[in-house]
Amino acid sequence: MYVSELDLRDFRSWPELRLELAPGATVFAGRNGHGKTNIVEAVYYTAHLRSHRVSSDGPLILSGADNARVSATTVNEGRALTTHLLLKASGANQAQINRTRLKSPRELLGVLRCVMFSPEDLRLVVGEPAERRRFLDDLMSLRTPRLNGVRMDYERVLRQRNALLRSSNMALRRGYQDESGAAALATLDVWDAQLAAHGAQLIAGRLQLVDALAPLITSAYASVAPESRPASVHYKTTIGDIGTDSTTDAPRDSALFEAAMLAELGRRRREEIDRGTTVTGPHRDDLVLMLGDNPAKGYASHGETWSYALALHLAEYQLLASEGTDPVLILDDVFAELDAKRRERLVAVAESAEQVLITAAVGDDLPSNLDDAVTARYAVTMEEGVSTIERSDP
Ligand SMILES: Nc1ncnc2c1ncn2[C@@H]1O[C@H](COP(=O)(O)OP(=O)(O)OP(=O)(O)O)[C@@H](O)[C@H]1O
Ligand SMILES: [Mg+2]
Repeated sequence: MYVSELDLRDFRSWPELRLELAPGATVFAGRNGHGKTNIVEAVYYTAHLRSHRVSSDGPLILSGADNARVSATTVNEGRALTTHLLLKASGANQAQINRTRLKSPRELLGVLRCVMFSPEDLRLVVGEPAERRRFLDDLMSLRTPRLNGVRMDYERVLRQRNALLRSSNMALRRGYQDESGAAALATLDVWDAQLAAHGAQLIAGRLQLVDALAPLITSAYASVAPESRPASVHYKTTIGDIGTDSTTDAPRDSALFEAAMLAELGRRRREEIDRGTTVTGPHRDDLVLMLGDNPAKGYASHGETWSYALALHLAEYQLLASEGTDPVLILDDVFAELDAKRRERLVAVAESAEQVLITAAVGDDLPSNLDDAVTARYAVTMEEGVSTIERSDP
């Protein structure tokens, strides 16, 4: 698939941007801070409904404006769909496909598939488990939009359960003999059942994804860092021993996980009441990245960390591409950081992709063997806080 048109209003440093894009590689070059990443961030947002670098939408709206608009036309096997997103400084965001207003922007998930590699990705390897959970959940949502609903339901129940553990803490400690204690514990039972039902589906979805992804990550890592130790990944859960090892044919059955999670919630109830928060469930799980016998986090060198981050996205790209249409590949400022071997590997993928959007700071040379794939070049400049763009094809 490819994005054929991108329209921005009041998005980051772009009061207005209208771009026609073609398949092949498009390069955005410009000085640091002039607005290149802002362009690809808008494309990423259309695919994932969140920014790759901030967790809230506020910073995406041009300073002083009330709303930002992102419209993109995605062409997938000849069929074009135009999506419109309205990001509001206050109130719920709105979305539209062609002329149809959607109940929720979530309905846009799956229209545009994109894989981005950016300097922020080092956090995937060295950051907290939340970074890796987001990586899994975003990819899972892109492949199976229904599971994005499960993820939201889980988060909602988790918030409610945590609120109960905090606000009714005294009552919960009094036990079933006490009237208010019994009422609070009965409410907790209800939340446990819902949490386990949604949580089990989430874990099953993540495990199926990790099963598909794990071998791709190992081979992608071997090809970008052949001199390094082998990479392997596995899912680590907090709901007890449910056989998460991808090498066995352990079941991926959410009914089993639901029972396991309920048992674990029961076993740790005392502790959860004492701590006033939910300590077991997919919100505490992790995707463990191993390098040889050590976890990459804490052991990997800087170069190995880059290779790992790259391997995760190459695997993501391969998995999506194997399911039909090539996702749009976004390479934000990455070539400058990579050595010759990793550049070569990335160029090979970039050349095979239907569309690649590349940002590069002035002075950072792109690999020359990428030249043949480049179909358009743009110069991005900023004056008085406003970004502008100009075609700069030779
Ligand atoms: N909400 C906003 N409103 C106005 N300007 C913004 C907003 N958010 C970011 N900017 C401006 O956008 C610029 C950063 O844009 P961007 O991250 O796209 O730069 P870049 O060209 O990718 O730079 P680099 O080469 O350093 O990665 C900064 O000048 C920043 O002040
Ligand atoms: Mg940038």
